[in-house]
Amino acid sequence: MIYSINNPVPIPRKSQELFGKKMKLFDVYAINPLEIMRGEGSVVWDSVGNEYLDMYGGHAVISIGHTHPHYVKRITDQLHKIGFYSNSVEIPGQIQLAELLGNVSGKAGFQLFLCNSGAEANENALKLASFYNGRKKVIAFTGAFHGRTSLAVAATHNAKIVAPVNETDNVIFLPFNDTEALEAAFASYGNEISSVIVEGIQGVGGIKAASYEFLNQIRTLTSQYDSIFIADSVQCGYGRSGSFYSHDLAGIEADIYSMAKGMGNGFPIGGIAISPKIKPWIGMLGTTFGGNHLACAAALAVLEVIEKDSLIENAANVGTYLIDELRKMDKISEVRGKGLMIGIDLPTELSSVKKNLLLKNRIFTGEAKPNVIRLLPALNLTKAHADRFLEALDERLKTD
Ligand SMILES: Cc1ncc(COP(=O)(O)O)c(C=O)c1O
Repeated sequence: MIYSINNPVPIPRKSQELFGKKMKLFDVYAINPLEIMRGEGSVVWDSVGNEYLDMYGGHAVISIGHTHPHYVKRITDQLHKIGFYSNSVEIPGQIQLAELLGNVSGKAGFQLFLCNSGAEANENALKLASFYNGRKKVIAFTGAFHGRTSLAVAATHNAKIVAPVNETDNVIFLPFNDTEALEAAFASYGNEISSVIVEGIQGVGGIKAASYEFLNQIRTLTSQYDSIFIADSVQCGYGRSGSFYSHDLAGIEADIYSMAKGMGNGFPIGGIAISPKIKPWIGMLGTTFGGNHLACAAALAVLEVIEKDSLIENAANVGTYLIDELRKMDKISEVRGKGLMIGIDLPTELSSVKKNLLLKNRIFTGEAKPNVIRLLPALNLTKAHADRFLEALDERLKTD
């Protein structure tokens, strides 16, 4: 059959049925019915001009504040030169980023591989560990969240989001912070363990910190058995805890640090910082978009501002202030966290507080199940903004 203008290709029956209909979004998010149009620092405005305090940092992503002038300028300048070219050519921004990240994070001897998201960073970390020692088993922990791609989601402790195709016997879950269970696991099959992946402070799991003893034990056992220690720093890293990597607080050094969220202040970029003991070979890892010119400009701007404005110190100071004040408040069951990664555990009868902070006080916060308010604001949150939040929360606790 020859098709022509007079004898067109027949439209399949399914497409005929859909003709005239509009494509819709795939409905996977519980959405607040408001549109954020503009932001500056830790303040955002909706489409009808209402102002909100952003104690959520757009999901732990906004590290240096919305529309920071240096960030806007650096990305704009880069866009005027070139936005993208592939990893088949030299991209000087990547080299500058590796150097600056090494200095600011205190891991100058490490190597950087760039990608686009947190899940991808963990996926690459787990894969790299397996390339390194030729093993298959991964230890992850109860309450962990490592992303939604294949091995990252298999290492995530939430059966609901693991599709049958992602299920694997290679991931073993152990109880979080249980040193005895970890010791026993290594004693029985230590030589099969490729890597241990752990968040320094569990985010989605409800702002629960790994104990320093636990992190030290992971370090000791992974070193003893030549397994790789992967420090998932996607949410708890990049200065959020008041240390560059929250795992630093335990006085240990991991073999791979995965990062994303705060790295680009909203521009999609992720990465892994890799110990010098892991050697690369051409083709070992790869990506189309990872480390592109624009992403590097965004990430460089973030680190420059973090360094120049001492934002890690600010996160530590304002975070300590917030935590101390929150602990004085009645009705809160528990306050957890470090720096500007704070979990406020509320009793069930106060389950409306988070919603009302947004509706009545115009303050964005995050949440974790069952009833934890998660604070993940920009690292340059001011004390005045912290006070505004504390006053609003006090009002909610008295009236809700
Ligand atoms: C600790 C941790 N790891 C990994 C991820 C996955 O990151 P992404 O959503 O960028 O893939 C997240 C996201 O919330 C996270 O909190």
